[in-house]
Amino acid sequence: MSPFVVTRTLPEDATGAALRADVLEGLTGSPKTLPPKWFYDAYGSELFEEITALPEYYPTRAEREILLARSGEIAAAAGARTLVELGSGSSEKTRYLIDALTDLRAYVPVDVSESALTRAGQALVAERPGLEVHALIADFTARLVLPKTPAPRLVAFLGGTIGNLLPAERAAFLASVRGLLAPGDALLLGTDLVKDERVLVRAYDDAAGVTAAFNKNVLTVIDRELGADFDPAAFDHVALWDAEHEWIEMRLRSRLAQTVKVPALDLAVDFAAGEELRTEVSAKFRKEGVRAELESAGLELARWWTDGAGRFALSLSVVR
Ligand code: SAH
Ligand code: AVI
Repeated sequence: MSPFVVTRTLPEDATGAALRADVLEGLTGSPKTLPPKWFYDAYGSELFEEITALPEYYPTRAEREILLARSGEIAAAAGARTLVELGSGSSEKTRYLIDALTDLRAYVPVDVSESALTRAGQALVAERPGLEVHALIADFTARLVLPKTPAPRLVAFLGGTIGNLLPAERAAFLASVRGLLAPGDALLLGTDLVKDERVLVRAYDDAAGVTAAFNKNVLTVIDRELGADFDPAAFDHVALWDAEHEWIEMRLRSRLAQTVKVPALDLAVDFAAGEELRTEVSAKFRKEGVRAELESAGLELARWWTDGAGRFALSLSVVR
């Protein structure tokens, strides 16, 4: 087998059909919403990488600090021969795990972003001869069929991306991850933690405006893919802390009353001046909440590590 294989597990036009369904549902509902997975075309994936280097955006640095310090312990506890990574993006922090897992045979990155998967996979096979990289272009919220690779498996879900799922979606997602695990396998989960509201809001509303560009990119994706006439300049980026749900919400606020046409859906969408479209939630967690959600999915929290400042946590859980 070639050391780098990319498999598209989605049927032909599944992405287009899913985008049409999500946009129709999200823009005809009240309040208007869009799911965050549509941020990540090639440009959106690049903007996300820029976000990870912003002074205000601490999660990537905090998680890297934990991985740098704890990858040896994680590897010893998991002893994995296959590392599956959901929402792998650039796979940049994953290198700490790959280096620490001394018996690792296969790396299976899973992402909706083909550009991110290809770039990361090609770099990894060049850097790590002997490692089989089997990338899956897939939606991690759908039923995943993983390639046959050696056990045990470590499934990693880093970056705090689980926080971009709504609570009911998280429960369904964790149950499906549980279904991928056999006894002896483990889940490594990155969760951003509840903290000072000002720190959180700044992380999602940076001074350089990169997060604003990332947020508005979803409109550009809909324009390109569905022939819509969204003008990103006609919307303002909004990031706010929802203290009740303990999540950051990103929204796009219409600067004026306007009608946006989406020809692929034969749809005209009216926005009132000041009307907001929710584009993302980014939930922040507490240890007991993470434990409870894992437990409801049939998983047992075995280890919990945070960075020195207690901003972000990595947890290792096993099948109960
Ligand atoms: N894990 C990396 C990247 C996080 S960005 C890190 O910690 O830096 C979130 C990643 O998840 C992006 O690469 C995006 O394309 C991917 N993603 C978002 N929703 C997804 C979904 N439903 N299915 C698969 N991948 C998804
Ligand atoms: C990928 N995910 C964990 C990021 C987050 O922090 O929720 C996405 C992001 N949105 C705005 N900035 C970063």
